[in-house]
Amino acid sequence: MPRHAYRASLLDFHQDATKVGLDGDGAKVASHIRFVDDGLLIVEDGKIAYAGAFEEELINGDTVHDFRGKIICPGFIDTHIHYPQMEMICAYGEQLLDWLKTYTFPTERKYSDKTYAREMAMICIRELFKNGTTTAAVFCTVHPESVDAFFEVAETHNMLVIAGKVLMDRNAPEYLQDTPERAYDESKALIEKWHGRGRCLYAITPRFAPTSTAAQLEAAGRLRREFPDVFVHTHLAENKAEVEWVQELFPEARSYFDVYKRFGLTGRRCIFAHCIHLDDTDMHEFSDSRSVAAFCPTSNLFLGSGLLPLQRMREMHVLLTLGTDVGAGTSFSMFQTFHDAYKVSQLQGAKLSVEEGLYMATLGAAHALGLDDRIGNLDVGKDADFVMLDPTATELQQLRWATPSPLSDRLFTLFMLGDHHNIFRTYVHGAEVYARSS
Ligand code: GUN
Ligand code: ZN
Repeated sequence: MPRHAYRASLLDFHQDATKVGLDGDGAKVASHIRFVDDGLLIVEDGKIAYAGAFEEELINGDTVHDFRGKIICPGFIDTHIHYPQMEMICAYGEQLLDWLKTYTFPTERKYSDKTYAREMAMICIRELFKNGTTTAAVFCTVHPESVDAFFEVAETHNMLVIAGKVLMDRNAPEYLQDTPERAYDESKALIEKWHGRGRCLYAITPRFAPTSTAAQLEAAGRLRREFPDVFVHTHLAENKAEVEWVQELFPEARSYFDVYKRFGLTGRRCIFAHCIHLDDTDMHEFSDSRSVAAFCPTSNLFLGSGLLPLQRMREMHVLLTLGTDVGAGTSFSMFQTFHDAYKVSQLQGAKLSVEEGLYMATLGAAHALGLDDRIGNLDVGKDADFVMLDPTATELQQLRWATPSPLSDRLFTLFMLGDHHNIFRTYVHGAEVYARSS
């Protein structure tokens, strides 16, 4: 692959930010931000070969793509999304458990059809790139075909994805159920086929505790012991009725989190969407285990699930990332996701700085997932997954950007007002995968 050089501003975090993590007022993480006004990014063989100040002598006959006025930042990481739920986004009127029954399960039935699943996977990945997201942790459906379809499409773009087959053997329609044995056998076959192939990574994906029997969760735990470097991806403590139901279904467990813990489904590389209704014991155990929380504010507000206790989680040093949770989430945009996260923090009298938002969407997520040796910032040697932001896509943004104010304030406005219009180009492993049409 030839070298490519891009002249633009650069925005990312120094690797040391991972030692600080989230810290309440954003001050520590902000001190590790890197902004180079007149910057240069050189990409070679899909990796970052240089990121720093623009210097004429660095260009050895390379063509320089001149994007002055734009900002290059690492590709966004969405740690929780359901690709089969795009077509039912913004389904009206229900909270979690009725929303699943009324809208979600009938939609997911369609994904037994591989051709259909492929078409939807293509749309999903296009939509991710259009929003500047270059890595996602993705729920498929119970059908292995839906997993093959998703990985096949991701592989054509050389995209770093985490995905897996949903496990469900109770409390769901017959047509979406597997069994503990099928869950084990089908997941194992998919792990052997996909985990570590190109940039594909596998997640053992029990939907949530209520739709798995103890026997199925035990099978999931066994898989994790046999394949310790795969991910686990599930939901946790999203909705109060759900939490009560879990207590009825697993009376021997101390809490919802304890259910997963008993089956060996917590710890590093275990992604839990939501984590709203956790007590202090759970939160301590969650944090100590280095499990990963996916904060999905557009979904939590849309389904009326509740407000993530952001300040408590920061104080307990929980590994916190951002998920869109489409289709309970209402946007693919990490800007919009930050926008709602900020409002969730405001409702609780906490603050969420743009630096923390950018960190959670890039290096923080990469670090939480154990992928920060490959992605998350613009360090030399990392995979060249990056986005070219246009901070002035609308007249209002032009006005705001031109108003003299500290960079932090201008970035905050970009994140609050931003959406896909602010994504000018997206690059995956050095190749352009999206270009805004004008
Ligand atoms: N809990 C179990 N399944 C789901 C799902 O599909 N979406 C959300 N938001 N929560 C869930
Ligand atoms: Zn979800």
